[in-house]
Amino acid sequence: MEIGILSTVGGKQLATLTVDPNSTLKELKTQIHRLKSHLNPDRQEFRLEPRSKGLDENKSVQALGLKDQSKLYLKDLGPQVAYKTVFLVEYAGPLFVYAWIYQRPWLFYGDEAASQPVSQVVHIAAFCWISHYAKRILETLFVHRFSHATMPVRNLFRNCSYYWLFAAYVAYHVNHPLYTAPCQLQSYIALGCWTLCELGNFSIHWALRNLRPPGSKERRVPRSTKDPLTLLFNLVSCPNYTYEVGGWIAFTIMTQCLPAGLFTLAGFYQMAVWALGKHRAYKKDFKDYPRGRKAIIPFVL
Ligand SMILES: NC(=O)c1ccc[n+]([C@@H]2O[C@H](COP(=O)([O-])OP(=O)(O)OC[C@H]3O[C@@H](n4cnc5c(N)ncnc54)[C@H](OP(=O)(O)O)[C@@H]3O)[C@@H](O)[C@H]2O)c1
Repeated sequence: MEIGILSTVGGKQLATLTVDPNSTLKELKTQIHRLKSHLNPDRQEFRLEPRSKGLDENKSVQALGLKDQSKLYLKDLGPQVAYKTVFLVEYAGPLFVYAWIYQRPWLFYGDEAASQPVSQVVHIAAFCWISHYAKRILETLFVHRFSHATMPVRNLFRNCSYYWLFAAYVAYHVNHPLYTAPCQLQSYIALGCWTLCELGNFSIHWALRNLRPPGSKERRVPRSTKDPLTLLFNLVSCPNYTYEVGGWIAFTIMTQCLPAGLFTLAGFYQMAVWALGKHRAYKKDFKDYPRGRKAIIPFVL
């Protein structure tokens, strides 16, 4: 059978493919790549309509109800970069930027700053910030099983700007010679909460890893495991985001620093949007999805 391939931009005819009804969209992408060498399979997305949702590339032509002379729209997602590369560059930035500003470089604070006294919470905050991003890098390398191999290269610039600039903004204020630390008890209690949230975040990442068999893109209903920190799955769909936000709230209380609070708010907004989307998708994809779970904040959101 023959399938016409049209561009999502202007509906221009790109190719006519002769395919077997059992061919998957992934195989069609390879055919198109042979015809148009710049269209690497990773930058192709098939749609039934120019503006409809991208189709699962593992589905066959037959399963999608396509017949001889049917049309499929192809969206060019643009140049791609490896998923892991984006995360590694994104997280290495805040780690090194913070570590550099922690040393009070003359560029930001002048020649005298490095020799002025530094309060203990400044050291603790640097440890928390740097170990958080080191953890994310290690998780990217050894824990997460991503379902995507690549993402558009423009994401690299957008994500890096967000993390790198916020790291500099927070680090500049916390490490400033005029920074005033809160009382030690407040900082120690917040450090305890921060540690708990980091452990919880890791526990959820580990549970998510074990939900997906190696090399697959399977997505299952997440449930709590023997690890008590995963019990939060009973209350929200994305407890890793809940713990992440909790960690940043603890960091803000620990440092009592407005830029840290703004970073927490921005992160919360982004993660709440993503969590609501994932929560909706779980409810749509799994008919038996546990009722009563919220997206990110137990009982509230
Ligand atoms: N501070 C901030 O602004 C901020 C923002 C975002 C993230 N983060 C941090 O970065 C971490 C990772 O973020 P993320 O957005 O990638 O988290 P995520 O979407 O929850 O995914 C984490 C990993 O688990 C996989 N996964 C998710 N749900 C699954 C399911 N039901 N079955 C099987 N595998 C599943 C994901 O695969 P897929 O590739 O299929 O998604 C991914 O590899 C967060 O937990 C948080 O700590 C921080």
